[in-house]
Amino acid sequence: MQGVRAGAGVVVGFGLVLAALGGVAWLRSEAILSRTFPVADVPTPEVTMDPASIARGRHLVEAVLVCGACHGDDLGGAWMEGHPMVGRVWAPNLTVGSTTVATYGDADWARALRHGVSPEGRGLLWMPAQRWSTLSDDDLAATIAWLRAAPSVDRQAGQAELEAGGRVLVAMGGGVDAALVDPDAVPSTVPWGPTPDYGAYLARIAGCHDCHGGGAGAARVYDGPRAPAWAAERLTGWTGAQFSDAVVEGVGRDGRRLDAAMPSRAYRGMSDTEVDALWLHLRPEPVDDGSATSGR
Ligand code: HEC
Ligand code: HEC
Repeated sequence: MQGVRAGAGVVVGFGLVLAALGGVAWLRSEAILSRTFPVADVPTPEVTMDPASIARGRHLVEAVLVCGACHGDDLGGAWMEGHPMVGRVWAPNLTVGSTTVATYGDADWARALRHGVSPEGRGLLWMPAQRWSTLSDDDLAATIAWLRAAPSVDRQAGQAELEAGGRVLVAMGGGVDAALVDPDAVPSTVPWGPTPDYGAYLARIAGCHDCHGGGAGAARVYDGPRAPAWAAERLTGWTGAQFSDAVVEGVGRDGRRLDAAMPSRAYRGMSDTEVDALWLHLRPEPVDDGSATSGR
């Protein structure tokens, strides 16, 4: 009898501690979710709606920045599913037909992309803005041009549904990328070409480091299967052609189809020059195999 009562006491005590911890996590996540970030004056590049800029923007959005991986291929909005214990978040409609971005000015786009902050100053959940904190002015302007030109989509919006696990992650500082960007660190333009420097720029804005590590940001909660970490030796022994197959075809070195969490479906649209640049930046040591990803 005594033992049973003591056991029950322990269980109740445990329950109380868990409830208290849950309460603290909930309060802390509420504080983070309702926090506002003072990003009033955003340096904003001049957006021109000329065909070259729109075409560049479309290429960036579809093949490099992969906005569609979360917002839907037609940019009309989509659910991002986390683990069932984490919940899901609605990545809103980005087309001109959307009530969310209908009133967006250029500065609002710059604030959301470079800073991860909404026009009202809310830190955007699961929106990977760190990647674009150093997106060049030219590329940001082109991206905005395409977002304004992209076909309008009419789709019912969803509301974020965070479960206990999602609350705990937010409470621990995960999921909100809001950052105050140093305007001096933003390049106005980045010279385009098959160079390691351009590859480094691409690897950052295409989000490679976000998932694979080896740079700013760690693997994220919504990634599904974990991306192989790029320790120094990871790509040793790879040829440029194998790298290219993995990135743009989604086929691993062993011929296996890579999991869809690796966004090759979007990277397929990258140019040879872009894949070459990525390889020149990411390959472990210079190897003499001629042009980097030759064979595509
Ligand atoms: C990894 C997933 C992911 C990617 C990639 C992504 N977004 Fe988002 N984005 C989200 C989510 C989720 C939200 C909703 C955040 C919220 O409501 O707290 C969001 C919100 C936004 C908003 C804010 C809308 C508002 O509420 O005012 C804009 C603008 C936006 N994204 C633009 C883009 C653009 C442009 C790209 C590509 C350059 C992009 N996003 C890529 C996940 C993503
Ligand atoms: C949203 C997360 C995500 C992003 C962004 C991402 N990857 Fe991946 N990547 C993965 C995952 C997950 C795998 C493992 C898939 C599997 O094993 O089935 C993978 C696999 C790979 C592989 C196969 C090689 C290996 O190490 O075994 C290469 C190469 C690769 N990615 C390169 C890139 C490059 C280059 C970029 C940026 C242009 C990039 N990835 C961006 C998630 C990502």
